[in-house]
Amino acid sequence: MNTEVRVKENKLIDSYQRLIHKLRVQLTDACNFRCFYCMPLDMKFKPHSELLTSEEIYQICFILNQDFGIDELRITGGEPTIRPEFEEIVYKLSSLNLSKLGLTTNGFILDKKLDFLKTTECKNINISLDSLNEETFNYITRSKYFKNTLKSILKAKELGFNIKINTVMLKGINDNEVEEFINFSAKYDIEVRFLELMKIGEAYYNNDKLFISAKEYIDKIKKKHNLHPIKVEIDSTSFKYRLENGAKIGFIASESMPFCNSCSRLRLSATGKLRSCLMSNNGINLKNLQKEQYREVLYSVISMKPYTRIHHIEENMNQIGG
Ligand code: 5AD
Ligand code: SF4
Repeated sequence: MNTEVRVKENKLIDSYQRLIHKLRVQLTDACNFRCFYCMPLDMKFKPHSELLTSEEIYQICFILNQDFGIDELRITGGEPTIRPEFEEIVYKLSSLNLSKLGLTTNGFILDKKLDFLKTTECKNINISLDSLNEETFNYITRSKYFKNTLKSILKAKELGFNIKINTVMLKGINDNEVEEFINFSAKYDIEVRFLELMKIGEAYYNNDKLFISAKEYIDKIKKKHNLHPIKVEIDSTSFKYRLENGAKIGFIASESMPFCNSCSRLRLSATGKLRSCLMSNNGINLKNLQKEQYREVLYSVISMKPYTRIHHIEENMNQIGG
């Protein structure tokens, strides 16, 4: 555990010199998909009455942005677009002084939100798409919404959003689709990021069976394509390449190549708990906290931030906030 946290020129810097400037804001733990690696079919969600209100979310983000140098927000879930106050929250967060506002979504009803999002600062949308094959997609998500998701992706691209596809690689299920995803990326000029399955919740118990390392599919890709590295930010979770056919692909190798030592993120849960790591449920609730108490609480939360990867967590991904 590191204890020495500093606020320098309104910036949060921990004792490992990591600049903490990003926040993931979970709007809800509920989701209309049931990706089998994410949650059980009979998952119970938090009642709306336990969630932070839109004003509370805004106030917390306002303080973190104004006084503590948090300049990048990503809205997550569960599935954030199904929260009834989704538009109100995005609208409010758009008024903050941010360098980036993003959204991570499963794309199901995104197409209906795009005209609204166009009027906000939320231009960076990451959409989960684990398969380009309808049957496989429906098998993984235990939904029937492949067409909606694809439609949302293409419409978002057409409207000029900065979009990325997140594809969790699952051995024997979608790992035969890498080439198709590369062609998809080239055809539509959309970045595709391949994610290693992390030892989180449901996926922890299935990890041995389903895990496939980034190196395994990179080696396969290299047999067919020349990979030209693209420069990324120091605290980027992915490393990226441009291919000669125009595809842009990234890899998030959280298991085989963890990036905790350059992590710059905090996470705010839908109920108000601020935590410093995806893999640890330690944290402090910010609900009803006075402005004067923030500094001390932030010091405590950041001092909980691990420097090396925690092996696994039993909480499900939708509960943590993707
Ligand atoms: N490992 C890696 N990615 C995961 N996601 C959900 N669970 C896991 C896991 N165990 C992904 C979703 C989505 C993003 C928010 O996180 O598929 O793309
Ligand atoms: Fe929903 Fe995302 Fe979990 Fe799938 S991975 S069930 S889309 S929260």
